[in-house]
Amino acid sequence: MVPRYPDVQFWNLDQLTYAGNLLNLSSIEHAENYTFIHSDITDLDKLNSLFEAHDFTTVIHFAAESHVDRSILGPVVFAETNTVGTLKLLEAARRHWGASASNFTDGSRRFYHVSTDEVYGSLSEEGYFTEQTPYDPRSPYSASKAASDHFVRAYYHTYKLPFVISNCSNNYGPYQFPEKLIPLVILNAIQGKPIPIYGKGENVRDWLHVGDHCEAIDTILRYASTGHTYNIGGGNEHSNLELVGMLLDEVDKARGQEAGHSRSLITFVTDRPGHDFRYAMDYSLLNKDLGWEPAYSLAEGLQDTVLWYLNNQKWLEAVADQSYREYYTRQYASR
Ligand SMILES: NC(=O)c1ccc[n+]([C@@H]2O[C@H](COP(=O)([O-])OP(=O)(O)OC[C@H]3O[C@@H](n4cnc5c(N)ncnc54)[C@H](O)[C@@H]3O)[C@@H](O)[C@H]2O)c1
Repeated sequence: MVPRYPDVQFWNLDQLTYAGNLLNLSSIEHAENYTFIHSDITDLDKLNSLFEAHDFTTVIHFAAESHVDRSILGPVVFAETNTVGTLKLLEAARRHWGASASNFTDGSRRFYHVSTDEVYGSLSEEGYFTEQTPYDPRSPYSASKAASDHFVRAYYHTYKLPFVISNCSNNYGPYQFPEKLIPLVILNAIQGKPIPIYGKGENVRDWLHVGDHCEAIDTILRYASTGHTYNIGGGNEHSNLELVGMLLDEVDKARGQEAGHSRSLITFVTDRPGHDFRYAMDYSLLNKDLGWEPAYSLAEGLQDTVLWYLNNQKWLEAVADQSYREYYTRQYASR
């Protein structure tokens, strides 16, 4: 596969933590305009030498520790990667782009920071997060992402570093590590294992297909004005219990089983501490300014996702290795 922009040189820097996997990149690994760099965003010397060698004009910053449950088990690495790592990337860009960064309001240099809806805290049954909602992070993960968003804006105000930020709701789709709800449910259903649901499954999330998230990022990267922030959401709010039910019905359908067959695997477990009740994104600004809206309906997206996991069981087995099983036992076995 050739990346969408054949005239652009892509360097993909990733530390390949438990969540990173070169198998996910096999379709582009031989593309002429693509280079993989195995490195850590907290290594400032390495970042400086890479900026020096390749004269990057754009940073799209995805790298993170991203799983809330892991942030509760071990918060420090979240601050190190998400907050300090972002700071070091900003610093490398500032040093390389230098004092002339203020001339880059035309978008010829851009630091794109990928962030989350979780920085806004938790909603009750009413209302939506807008770009004006005050930050109120409640987990070590969301606190580390909120801090990183603040550093990005501070670099703009202090050094004129040209940034855009997007805050997105829960993603799902192919290649997602099976600690996250949707692939975990599919994996356990395939294996006939109990499907753990926190509390009574009443917590509400707004689901977005990862393909729609990437289209939104591409649109914002190319067309947003410097210094702007956009919310990205799916308009697909469901309680965890509803979502898992829909997903299990898709798994049953795809495997030719009777509807409701896999729902018997649902098992309620002790709730996550400080579990945010509801996230819901108002993405009308992005729609009004740049015309983006999600292309996938949730039904289509879940169907595609279930088929992808059923057709890629070798991938699932490869990523759900010993360390995943140890994590899973720590997280769910005693609840
Ligand atoms: N998944 C979601 O639902 C969601 C929603 C909104 C925003 N986001 C944001 O999108 C970004 C990507 O999320 P994801 O779900 O793909 O995360 P992920 O955990 O699946 O993948 C994170 C990637 O970052 C790499 N990484 C981790 N630490 C690193 C370091 N120190 N240096 C270099 N690379 C490192 C990992 O190897 C992995 O490839 C994150 O910034 C996350 O906060 C995710």
